[in-house]
Amino acid sequence: MGILSNLFSKKNAKQPIDFAHFKIDMHSHLLPGIDDGAKTLEQSLGMILKFHEMGYQKLIMTPHIMEDYYKNTPEIILEKLNEVREEVKKYGINIELEAAAEYYFDETLIEKVKNKEVLTFGNNHVLFEFSFGQEPQRISTLLFEFKINNYRPILAHYERYPYYHNNPEKIREYRDQGILIQLNLLSLTGHYGPQVEKMAKYLIDNQLVDFVGSDCHRIEHLQILEENANNIYFHKAKELNLLNVHLR
Ligand SMILES: [Fe+2]
Repeated sequence: MGILSNLFSKKNAKQPIDFAHFKIDMHSHLLPGIDDGAKTLEQSLGMILKFHEMGYQKLIMTPHIMEDYYKNTPEIILEKLNEVREEVKKYGINIELEAAAEYYFDETLIEKVKNKEVLTFGNNHVLFEFSFGQEPQRISTLLFEFKINNYRPILAHYERYPYYHNNPEKIREYRDQGILIQLNLLSLTGHYGPQVEKMAKYLIDNQLVDFVGSDCHRIEHLQILEENANNIYFHKAKELNLLNVHLR
């Protein structure tokens, strides 16, 4: 193996990443008791404290809104946000908290977009996800509605959809249509398996990522990130022109 290939096969960086570089986490399930993330206020606080220790300045928490499983509404989410903010204030944790949602693409999402009933963050950004099982129908209708209603859609964890693993060019089509791409940092650690890791690395190497997020559901997710702080792909991600750091 030559010097160059040695260099490129290197898995770990010399320095651990400073997660503070990512500044804002815009995908997590920290609001207690309303989805498959934090179950209690105590768990929420534990995770928020950990994010703070890692150097994050702001968390945009995005509980699932999924018609069949998590019937969350903006009212439910914002009420929980207030509850958590109060508690964080009480403990003097200096971190900014916001909430939006991770919208599952089901029949109801198109209607919500049409009626402008979706929670946004940043500059009218909306986080949404597809089914892991099969590519959804009517994607073009959804994209059209996002567009005419002036939303900026962000597709969550693109690397995790198995039906795109053998079609890496599909993402360019989406990006041309104005979809922003979010990648889970956990995907780069192998946490979701080798196929997802491979796709995640492809996206980073080809500069196809607009946002990185934790998708944190429990404190173990943050521990895994810390344990993998030397992952060279965290450093590569940091070098991309990520929109995380520009969110307001
Ligand atoms: Fe998520």
